Amino acid sequence: MVSTAILIGVALLVVTVLLLQPDRYAKLPPGPPGLPLLGNVLQLPASFMYLKLHEWSQQYGPIFSFNAAGQRVVVVSSAKVAGDVLDRLSAYSSNRPRWYKLNDYLSAGGNVVTMSASDTWRRLRKAVHEVLNVRNVNGFRSMQEEEAAITIHYLLKYPQVNLVKHFHRTSASIIWRGVYGGNPLSLDGPDPSQRVQDMSAEAFKAGLPGNSLMDMFPPLRHLYANSKWLRKPLDDYATESTNMFVDLYAGAKDAWALGEPCISNNLNKLSEDYGISQTSKAWTSGVVFSAGQDTTATALRFFALAMLLHPEVMLKAQTELDVVVGDRMPTFEDKEKLLYITAIAEEVTRWHPPAPGGVPHAASEDFVYEGYVIPRGTWIIDNIWSQTRDPALYDEADTFDPSRFLDAEGCIKAAAPDSHDDGLGFGHGRRICPGRDLAANSLFISIACLLWAFEFRPVKGEAAPEDIGLVDNFITVQPAPFKVDLVPRFRDLDLRLGETVAHLA
Ligand code: HEM
Repeated sequence: MVSTAILIGVALLVVTVLLLQPDRYAKLPPGPPGLPLLGNVLQLPASFMYLKLHEWSQQYGPIFSFNAAGQRVVVVSSAKVAGDVLDRLSAYSSNRPRWYKLNDYLSAGGNVVTMSASDTWRRLRKAVHEVLNVRNVNGFRSMQEEEAAITIHYLLKYPQVNLVKHFHRTSASIIWRGVYGGNPLSLDGPDPSQRVQDMSAEAFKAGLPGNSLMDMFPPLRHLYANSKWLRKPLDDYATESTNMFVDLYAGAKDAWALGEPCISNNLNKLSEDYGISQTSKAWTSGVVFSAGQDTTATALRFFALAMLLHPEVMLKAQTELDVVVGDRMPTFEDKEKLLYITAIAEEVTRWHPPAPGGVPHAASEDFVYEGYVIPRGTWIIDNIWSQTRDPALYDEADTFDPSRFLDAEGCIKAAAPDSHDDGLGFGHGRRICPGRDLAANSLFISIACLLWAFEFRPVKGEAAPEDIGLVDNFITVQPAPFKVDLVPRFRDLDLRLGETVAHLA
C-alpha cells in the first residue's frame, strides 16, 4: 500500500517537473496551427513542398516554423533572413539533419553533402572547396568548350532524341571528366554515370520525411544496430556503393598519369594535409559527381524552356553573339563581352532554381535570432524558391528577364552590399555549393554555344511552352520533357565545330 502511494507520489512529481520545465519550442517563429503529435505533417504535400512553404511564407513571414510529427522545422524565405540565419549565424546553422539511415547505413558515413557537421566533415569540406575553387575549375574551360561543341554535334545528328538525354549527357560528361578525367561520354553508348546517379538518388530518398522508420522511431535504431538480418539490405547497398566509388576512383589513375586536370587527383594530393582516407577520397569524388550532375542538367532544361517562352530574349542574345563572335564558335575568351549571355545564365538559376527547396540544414546548438530561439536539432529549410521571388530584390519575379542583372550601360550589376542577392540558387553558409563556379562556367559556355548554333522554336502540335509542367525529382525540380525544334543558324554548322567532333560517330 505504502509503496503504491510512493510510486504515485514520484509519478506526480515527475509530471509536475516536466510541466514546469520551460518549453524548448515556445520561442520558435510563428507558423501554421497543427494537430496534437502529428503537427502539420498532414498539410505537407508529397511533392513540390517548396510551393506549400512559399504559400506559408506569404502568411507567416520570412521566418516561420512548423512541426512535422515532432520534428521542428524553421523555414527562411527572404534573402535577408537567409543571409542572417544561414550566413551570419552559420556557426550554428550549418549542420544537416541527423539522417541515420542515409548517413550511418546507406552512405557508410562517407557522404559529404549529407553528413552532420563533425571534424571529418570540416576536413572534407575544406578539401572539396579547394579542389573546386575558381583557379582549379578554370582549368576545365577547354574541356567545357569541347563539350559544348560535342553537344551541338549530337543535337544535329540525333534531333529525334529528347533534349533531356542530350543535356544529361552534356552535364554528366563535363562533371565526369572533371572528376575522373578520360574521354567524353557518348550519347548512344554506355553511360557509366547513370549507375552513380541512380544509386545516389535512391540513397537521397531516405532523407525525405517519412521515408525512414529508424529516423522516425528512435527505438528502432537499437534494433537495427543489433540485428544483422535487418541491416543486411542497407549494408549490401553501402558495400555496393563503396565498391562502385572505389572502382571509379581507381580507374581515374590513367587520367592522372597523363597529367589531365581532375578533381579526384587534386583530392588525392590534398588527402595527407587534410587526413582523408582512401575510401573517403573515393566516396567524396563520387558524391561530388552526383551533386553536380542533375543540378546542371536541370538548369539547361530550364534555359531551353525560357528560350521557347521568350523568343525576344533569344534574339537579343543572338544579336550580341553576331557582333562579338560572328560565325565562329564562342569561347571563354569572349565572356567579358557576352554580358547578355552571362545575364541569361544568372537568370536561369534565379527564375527556376534547380534545387528550389535547398538541402535542409539543422541547428547544431540552440541559437537566438530576432528574439526567436531555435533549438538544437531543428531543421532549417533554405527556401530558395521564395528567396528568388523576394520582392525586395526582384520585380515581377515569375518573369524570365535577364536584363534585371544588367545596369543602364549593359554591364553586369554588382550586388549591393548586404543585399544577399548573389548566387541565391546555390545555398548558404558553410554548406554553400562548392561547385557553383564550375556550374556557372558550364552554363555560360553551353548557353553561349547553343544560342550561337540554333534558333529554339516550339514544335507544332506539342504542348505550348507555357503549359509545360514540372517534375519533382526529390532535390531537383525540372521541366517535364518537352520537344523543341532546333534550327541551325549556319548551313555548315557541323564543320564549324572544330577538331573535337571530327572523330565522333
Ligand atoms: C546549377 C548547378 C548547381 C546548383 C543549382 C547547385 C545547388 C546546390 C545547393 C542548393 C546546395 C545546398 C547548399 C546548402 O545546403 O546550403 C548544393 C550543395 C552542394 N553542391 Fe551544388 N549545385 C550545382 C552544381 C554543383 C556542381 C557542378 C558540383 C560539383 C562538381 C556541386 C557540388 C555540391 C556539393 C559537394 C554540395 C554539398 C556541400 C556541403 O554540404 O558542404 N554542385 N548545391
